[in-house]
Amino acid sequence: MQIQTNASLRSHHTFSIEQSCDMLVEASSIEDIQQVYSNPDWQAMPKLMLGKGSNMLFIEPFQGLVILNKLRGTTVTESEHYWHLHVASGEDWPNFVRWSVEQGYFGLENLALIPGCVGSAPIQNIGAYGKELKDVCEYVDVLELNSFEVKRLSAEECQFGYRDSIFKHALYEKVVIVAVGFKLEKKWQPHIEYGPLKAFDANTVSAKEVFEQVCQVRMEKLPDPTVTGNAGSFFKNPVISELQYQQLLAQYPNLVAYAVEGGMKLAAGWLIDNCQLKGLTLGGAQVHPNQALVLVNQGHATAQDVVDLADHVRQTVWQKYGIELEHEVRFMGKTQETNLLELRGALK
Ligand code: FAD
Ligand code: EPU
Repeated sequence: MQIQTNASLRSHHTFSIEQSCDMLVEASSIEDIQQVYSNPDWQAMPKLMLGKGSNMLFIEPFQGLVILNKLRGTTVTESEHYWHLHVASGEDWPNFVRWSVEQGYFGLENLALIPGCVGSAPIQNIGAYGKELKDVCEYVDVLELNSFEVKRLSAEECQFGYRDSIFKHALYEKVVIVAVGFKLEKKWQPHIEYGPLKAFDANTVSAKEVFEQVCQVRMEKLPDPTVTGNAGSFFKNPVISELQYQQLLAQYPNLVAYAVEGGMKLAAGWLIDNCQLKGLTLGGAQVHPNQALVLVNQGHATAQDVVDLADHVRQTVWQKYGIELEHEVRFMGKTQETNLLELRGALK
């Protein structure tokens, strides 16, 4: 196991903001993770399991131990109607999706090119282009941090929701995800209901074509984190009641929304854009000029710049529409996770 002290986190998260941690270790096996969590010398240190850091903002130097997920390996089995893929949590998600499409294990193509590790995908139930992880997940294997036993959770037990799961709630900081099981139908059916995929003919389109189209749209729409630091959508799309939606629609006839269980999901990108915030810069942080839901590091941003800008966006949207945006990006403080509400107070 490689161990570094006072290490830089800059290359371990996609916002590319300089930040340090007291200790950084690479875990290549479940035993490595057990060792880290059971080492008496490290008992008192806050610990953070990290994938590719593509949903993270480190607010301050982290006074704890960061564990980089390097668990590797994929196995494939089959039943009459399905391919069953068992994938170690440290595998790279975009590579895994590309590989699966190349091998003829179809069903992941709508989720192409989402940065991160396979094992991070269940945490916020990653989603794009009409599909979510929950649609293909069979189980999640976790290492319980009190017993050090590996336990299998069915997809149902994971309580997946929009950018949500049990790993953000009851199992928060209680488990480390070590593998994910996928169940992919051998008889592939395209999911091409979402915007830029609608042009395909369901009778003739191939999984490879969907994969390539999703990759192309994503490359056009979203800033590449290897060039411009960012963490994807900064805020979640808010869900409001039908009544509140009708009131807003009367005021804003172009409002973009989708019917979901429990109400209407609004496009936060549209809300922010309609406040004329696209391109707004604070310090080195910017509301992306083409995609208002993405905040970027122009190269010299500090975490405080990003927090200031995020708070400005949150306040402006609140004042204009009476809607509170919740950030999707996870904020890591000195010793524990934090959020905009704790850092900047409630909206008034
Ligand atoms: P990290 O950022 O490293 O970690 C995220 C959280 O998970 C942290 O709290 C961490 O402690 C915890 N964690 C990580 N690994 C484990 C583990 N093994 N066990 C327990 N806890 C763990 N998301 C979408 O849903 N859809 C998109 O379309 C999308 N597009 C994106 C585009 C860009 C350009 C970027 C930068 C991000 C995008 N995201 C998207 C967000 C991001 O890709 C996902 O949240 C992804 O799953 C994060 O994976 P990661 O390995 O980088 O997780
Ligand atoms: N829009 C604007 N102005 C903008 C941005 C968007 O008007 O600046 C409008 C668009 O025209 C469109 C609507 O908002 O009508 C939705 O935009 P888009 O299709 O780009 O999707 P999004 O809501 O911005 C969500 C996810 C993405 C995911 C895409 C594709 C969330 C928070 N974000 O983005 O996920 O890739 O849909 O399915 O749900 C992420 O979570 O990090 C992420 C990138």
